[in-house]
Amino acid sequence: MATDYTVKDISLADFGRKELDIAETEMPGLMALREEFGESKPLTGARIVGSLHMTIQTACLIETLVALGADVRWASCNIFSTQDHAAAAIAAAGVPVFAIKGQSLEEHWDYLDKSFMFPEGANLILDDGGDATLYVLLGAKAEAGEDLGVPTSEEEEAIHAQIKKRMAASPGWFTKTRADIMGVSEETTTGVHRLYDLHKKGELPFPAINVNDSVTKSKFDNKYGCKESLVDGIRRATDTMMAGKVAVVCGYGDVGKGSAASLSGAGARVKVTEADPICALQAAMDGYEVVLLEESLDADLFITTTGNKDVIRIEHMREMKDMAIVGNIGHFDNEIQVASLKNHKWTNIKEQVDMIEMPSGNRLILLSEGRLLNLGNATGHPSFVMSASFTNQVLAQIELFTKGDDYQNEVYILPKHLDEKVAALHLAKVGAKLSKLSPEQAAYIGVSPEGPFKPEHYRY
Ligand code: NAI
Repeated sequence: MATDYTVKDISLADFGRKELDIAETEMPGLMALREEFGESKPLTGARIVGSLHMTIQTACLIETLVALGADVRWASCNIFSTQDHAAAAIAAAGVPVFAIKGQSLEEHWDYLDKSFMFPEGANLILDDGGDATLYVLLGAKAEAGEDLGVPTSEEEEAIHAQIKKRMAASPGWFTKTRADIMGVSEETTTGVHRLYDLHKKGELPFPAINVNDSVTKSKFDNKYGCKESLVDGIRRATDTMMAGKVAVVCGYGDVGKGSAASLSGAGARVKVTEADPICALQAAMDGYEVVLLEESLDADLFITTTGNKDVIRIEHMREMKDMAIVGNIGHFDNEIQVASLKNHKWTNIKEQVDMIEMPSGNRLILLSEGRLLNLGNATGHPSFVMSASFTNQVLAQIELFTKGDDYQNEVYILPKHLDEKVAALHLAKVGAKLSKLSPEQAAYIGVSPEGPFKPEHYRY
């Protein structure tokens, strides 16, 4: 179908294609997979639903899946993260894509629903944050007669409404789709939490590959990706001078480490809050002051990176100074209590930047309404680091599609030799040369000269 897509403006396709051509030069892992598997096409017969930020880098991922034989339909996993020219380029190339930067919550679930609508039904999910998986599983529960309960947020209201619509239009669709899905590969920490939780409750109906915890994903994308894209987002949103300012980073996991480095690299004085003593000690020994948020509300910038909820609360925001900047880079928008600001006076400055007047008269600058700001206010991580993440994604999809029977309904991590392969594919681009272990050296440290080079318990 020529018009089987929803994008902002199809005439942006040429611009998108030009940026895609550039991205390909920065994504050696994906290009190597096209080279390796372009002829054998191991994904022939795969019908993949993608729910992941519709950016230029994702366009390169989509075209790699297609080059390997897959049929693909795509939605974005966040209402603000789409790059409209990337979506246009993909639509113009004939891949059904449903994503517009600034889409409403209702559209978000409607577009996800549309991305499932292969004539023969979907058989694989490529998820970021777990929305596609959630949609199918929650819908199947509803079809089994389970009450979805009263929605506790606008998000929940929107997904419940979409489920009811689909149930009315195609009775039994969710149950059938759940049975047809051969597996899911999940991109991010928050989505992976959801999968382990489902497995613990005995509710995971198909195998899942946790792409996030490939070393070449979380220790690179979450860290070095945020190191580049956090400050990029803050600058594009506010043009604020970072040097000399005090920034508080909530959370010092992989994203927090990259975020603190990003702000500190821009000259800000960075403070960190943490709940985990190991990460708190790491932050201290990396040179950051580890503080309580309550005692650091006189800072200039506040960034949440925890994947947790209610981290910056209304009582914190009431104490912040005039024109403090508040933003989140974790997956969901509940890290900052944005809902509690709804009855305040909002002045929209530009897309994804709002000024909010607090009862004291102080104003806050809120980025992307509390949704991940590196994708809402900028263009997400650079291509090179996303190449490592997405090479893992493609390998995971090949595993699930070609060796699905070897997997139980559990959550798996790709084997270390594939993790090392992903890294190896990215060395030449940065001019890195790899030392070769002699057989004696390899034997001395107990590894094979071809790898894996580390035991499973090694933490990098
Ligand atoms: P992580 O688990 O490595 O780190 C989160 C840290 O936050 C942990 O160390 C935890 O102890 C800490 N934390 C939790 N609650 C806290 C609280 N109330 N106060 C202070 N610290 C608290 O997770 P990771 O990989 O760093 O991911 C964090 C979030 O970022 C997730 O939602 C993930 O999905 C998302 N993400 C976003 C990306 C982006 O481009 N914006 C890229 C990758 C991940």
